[in-house]
Amino acid sequence: MHRSSNQSLPMVSVLFVCLGNICRSPTAEAVFRAKAQKRGLEQQLIIDSAGTSHWHQGNPPDKRSQEAAGRRGYNMARLKARQVTSDDFDRFDFILAMDESNYGDLAAMQPPNTRAALHLYLRDFGQHNLHEVPDPYYGGTDGFEQVLDLLESASDSLLDAIEASITKGRS
Ligand code: 4NP
Repeated sequence: MHRSSNQSLPMVSVLFVCLGNICRSPTAEAVFRAKAQKRGLEQQLIIDSAGTSHWHQGNPPDKRSQEAAGRRGYNMARLKARQVTSDDFDRFDFILAMDESNYGDLAAMQPPNTRAALHLYLRDFGQHNLHEVPDPYYGGTDGFEQVLDLLESASDSLLDAIEASITKGRS
Protein backbone atom coordinates (compact mmCIF):
# COMPACT_ATOMS: atom_id res chain seq x y z
CA MET A 1 0.00 0.00 0.00
CA HIS A 2 1.41 3.42 -0.95
CA ARG A 3 0.33 6.90 0.18
CA SER A 4 -1.56 9.25 -2.13
CA SER A 5 -0.12 12.66 -3.02
CA ASN A 6 -1.61 14.38 0.02
CA GLN A 7 0.05 11.70 2.19
CA SER A 8 -3.12 11.14 4.17
CA LEU A 9 -4.85 8.39 2.24
CA PRO A 10 -3.37 5.01 1.38
CA MET A 11 -3.43 4.07 -2.31
CA VAL A 12 -4.10 0.53 -3.44
CA SER A 13 -3.36 -0.64 -6.97
CA VAL A 14 -5.16 -3.49 -8.68
CA LEU A 15 -4.42 -5.21 -12.02
CA PHE A 16 -6.82 -7.69 -13.66
CA VAL A 17 -5.26 -10.15 -16.11
CA CYS A 18 -6.67 -12.58 -18.70
CA LEU A 19 -5.33 -13.96 -21.97
CA GLY A 20 -6.34 -11.36 -24.56
CA ASN A 21 -7.26 -8.33 -22.42
CA ILE A 22 -10.33 -7.82 -24.60
CA CYS A 23 -13.06 -9.83 -22.80
CA ARG A 24 -12.67 -10.84 -19.14
CA SER A 25 -10.04 -8.53 -17.66
CA PRO A 26 -11.33 -5.25 -19.17
CA THR A 27 -14.79 -6.27 -17.95
CA ALA A 28 -13.32 -6.91 -14.50
CA GLU A 29 -11.64 -3.49 -14.63
CA ALA A 30 -14.85 -1.66 -15.63
CA VAL A 31 -17.03 -3.45 -13.08
CA PHE A 32 -14.52 -2.92 -10.28
CA ARG A 33 -14.10 0.77 -11.11
CA ALA A 34 -17.86 1.37 -11.15
CA LYS A 35 -18.31 -0.39 -7.82
CA ALA A 36 -15.35 1.48 -6.30
CA GLN A 37 -16.90 4.75 -7.47
CA LYS A 38 -20.19 3.82 -5.79
CA ARG A 39 -18.34 3.30 -2.50
CA GLY A 40 -16.44 6.59 -2.88
CA LEU A 41 -13.12 4.71 -3.06
CA GLU A 42 -12.03 5.53 -6.60
CA GLN A 43 -9.54 8.22 -5.53
CA GLN A 44 -7.67 5.66 -3.48
CA LEU A 45 -7.45 3.03 -6.17
CA ILE A 46 -5.31 2.59 -9.27
CA ILE A 47 -7.17 0.13 -11.50
CA ASP A 48 -5.89 -1.43 -14.74
CA SER A 49 -6.05 -4.61 -16.80
CA ALA A 50 -3.68 -6.50 -19.11
CA GLY A 51 -3.34 -9.71 -21.10
CA THR A 52 -0.73 -12.45 -20.85
CA SER A 53 -0.64 -12.38 -24.69
CA HIS A 54 0.17 -9.46 -27.00
CA TRP A 55 -2.42 -10.61 -29.55
CA HIS A 56 -4.85 -7.73 -29.19
CA GLN A 57 -2.41 -5.02 -28.08
CA GLY A 58 -3.93 -1.54 -28.64
CA ASN A 59 -7.41 -2.89 -29.44
CA PRO A 60 -10.62 -1.89 -27.65
CA PRO A 61 -12.55 -4.57 -25.75
CA ASP A 62 -14.50 -7.17 -27.76
CA LYS A 63 -17.79 -5.73 -29.01
CA ARG A 64 -19.76 -8.51 -27.31
CA SER A 65 -18.14 -7.67 -23.95
CA GLN A 66 -18.87 -3.97 -24.46
CA GLU A 67 -22.50 -4.67 -25.32
CA ALA A 68 -23.08 -7.02 -22.38
CA ALA A 69 -21.39 -4.58 -19.99
CA GLY A 70 -23.29 -1.65 -21.51
CA ARG A 71 -26.61 -3.35 -20.78
CA ARG A 72 -25.65 -3.26 -17.09
CA GLY A 73 -24.43 0.33 -17.22
CA TYR A 74 -20.65 -0.25 -17.46
CA ASN A 75 -18.70 1.68 -20.08
CA MET A 76 -15.60 0.00 -21.51
CA ALA A 77 -15.23 2.04 -24.70
CA ARG A 78 -12.04 3.85 -23.72
CA LEU A 79 -10.06 0.80 -22.63
CA LYS A 80 -7.21 -0.51 -24.79
CA ALA A 81 -5.54 -3.92 -24.58
CA ARG A 82 -1.94 -4.22 -23.46
CA GLN A 83 0.34 -7.07 -22.49
CA VAL A 84 1.38 -7.59 -18.87
CA THR A 85 5.06 -6.80 -18.15
CA SER A 86 7.47 -7.77 -15.39
CA ASP A 87 7.31 -4.13 -14.16
CA ASP A 88 3.64 -4.68 -13.32
CA PHE A 89 4.70 -6.89 -10.41
CA ASP A 90 6.27 -3.83 -8.77
CA ARG A 91 3.58 -1.36 -9.83
CA PHE A 92 0.55 -3.20 -8.42
CA ASP A 93 -0.45 -4.43 -4.96
CA PHE A 94 -2.95 -7.00 -6.27
CA ILE A 95 -2.75 -8.96 -9.52
CA LEU A 96 -5.93 -10.94 -10.17
CA ALA A 97 -5.75 -13.76 -12.71
CA MET A 98 -8.99 -14.78 -14.44
CA ASP A 99 -8.12 -18.48 -14.89
CA GLU A 100 -5.59 -21.13 -13.89
CA SER A 101 -3.68 -20.77 -17.13
CA ASN A 102 -3.30 -17.00 -16.67
CA TYR A 103 -2.31 -17.62 -13.04
CA GLY A 104 0.37 -20.13 -14.07
CA ASP A 105 1.78 -17.78 -16.72
CA LEU A 106 1.89 -14.91 -14.22
CA ALA A 107 3.45 -17.03 -11.47
CA ALA A 108 6.15 -18.13 -13.92
CA MET A 109 7.01 -14.54 -14.88
CA GLN A 110 6.81 -12.88 -11.42
CA PRO A 111 10.31 -11.69 -10.48
CA PRO A 112 11.44 -12.57 -6.94
CA ASN A 113 10.70 -10.15 -4.08
CA THR A 114 8.22 -8.02 -5.99
CA ARG A 115 5.35 -6.07 -4.49
CA ALA A 116 2.33 -7.76 -6.03
CA ALA A 117 0.20 -10.39 -4.36
CA LEU A 118 -0.89 -12.74 -7.14
CA HIS A 119 -4.40 -14.20 -6.80
CA LEU A 120 -6.64 -16.49 -8.78
CA TYR A 121 -9.50 -14.01 -8.66
CA LEU A 122 -12.52 -16.25 -8.12
CA ARG A 123 -10.77 -18.77 -5.89
CA ASP A 124 -9.76 -16.00 -3.50
CA PHE A 125 -12.63 -13.50 -3.88
CA GLY A 126 -15.45 -15.29 -5.75
CA GLN A 127 -18.85 -15.95 -4.24
CA HIS A 128 -19.72 -18.92 -6.47
CA ASN A 129 -18.24 -22.40 -6.64
CA LEU A 130 -16.19 -21.58 -9.72
CA HIS A 131 -12.46 -20.91 -9.45
CA GLU A 132 -12.07 -19.60 -12.98
CA VAL A 133 -13.82 -16.98 -15.09
CA PRO A 134 -14.69 -19.05 -18.19
CA ASP A 135 -13.29 -17.66 -21.42
CA PRO A 136 -16.32 -16.33 -23.38
CA TYR A 137 -14.42 -15.61 -26.61
CA TYR A 138 -15.53 -18.64 -28.62
CA GLY A 139 -19.00 -18.96 -27.10
CA GLY A 140 -22.38 -17.23 -27.20
CA THR A 141 -24.02 -14.31 -25.40
CA ASP A 142 -24.67 -16.35 -22.24
CA GLY A 143 -20.93 -16.58 -21.63
CA PHE A 144 -20.59 -12.81 -21.50
CA GLU A 145 -23.49 -12.54 -19.05
CA GLN A 146 -21.92 -15.22 -16.84
CA VAL A 147 -18.61 -13.34 -16.88
CA LEU A 148 -20.43 -10.25 -15.60
CA ASP A 149 -22.27 -12.19 -12.87
CA LEU A 150 -19.02 -13.70 -11.59
CA LEU A 151 -17.08 -10.45 -11.78
CA GLU A 152 -19.76 -8.37 -10.06
CA SER A 153 -19.78 -10.57 -6.96
CA ALA A 154 -15.98 -10.98 -6.87
CA SER A 155 -15.62 -7.18 -7.12
CA ASP A 156 -17.75 -6.77 -4.03
CA SER A 157 -15.56 -9.19 -2.05
CA LEU A 158 -12.30 -7.65 -3.25
CA LEU A 159 -13.58 -4.16 -2.41
CA ASP A 160 -14.61 -5.38 1.06
CA ALA A 161 -11.06 -6.65 1.64
CA ILE A 162 -9.44 -3.46 0.31
CA GLU A 163 -11.81 -1.20 2.23
CA ALA A 164 -10.98 -3.09 5.43
CA SER A 165 -7.24 -2.72 4.78
CA ILE A 166 -7.59 1.01 4.07
CA THR A 167 -9.62 1.56 7.23
CA LYS A 168 -7.03 -0.35 9.24
CA GLY A 169 -4.23 1.70 7.63
CA ARG A 170 -5.96 4.90 8.73
CA SER A 171 -6.23 4.01 12.39
P1 4NP B 1 -9.95 -12.79 -22.86
O1 4NP B 1 -10.60 -13.63 -24.08
O2 4NP B 1 -8.69 -13.56 -22.46
O3 4NP B 1 -11.00 -12.84 -21.82
O4 4NP B 1 -9.66 -11.42 -23.40
C1 4NP B 1 -9.92 -14.01 -25.22
C2 4NP B 1 -9.71 -13.08 -26.22
C3 4NP B 1 -9.07 -13.45 -27.38
C4 4NP B 1 -8.65 -14.76 -27.56
C5 4NP B 1 -8.86 -15.70 -26.56
C6 4NP B 1 -9.49 -15.31 -25.39
N1 4NP B 1 -8.02 -15.15 -28.77
O5 4NP B 1 -7.79 -16.35 -28.96
O6 4NP B 1 -7.70 -14.27 -29.60
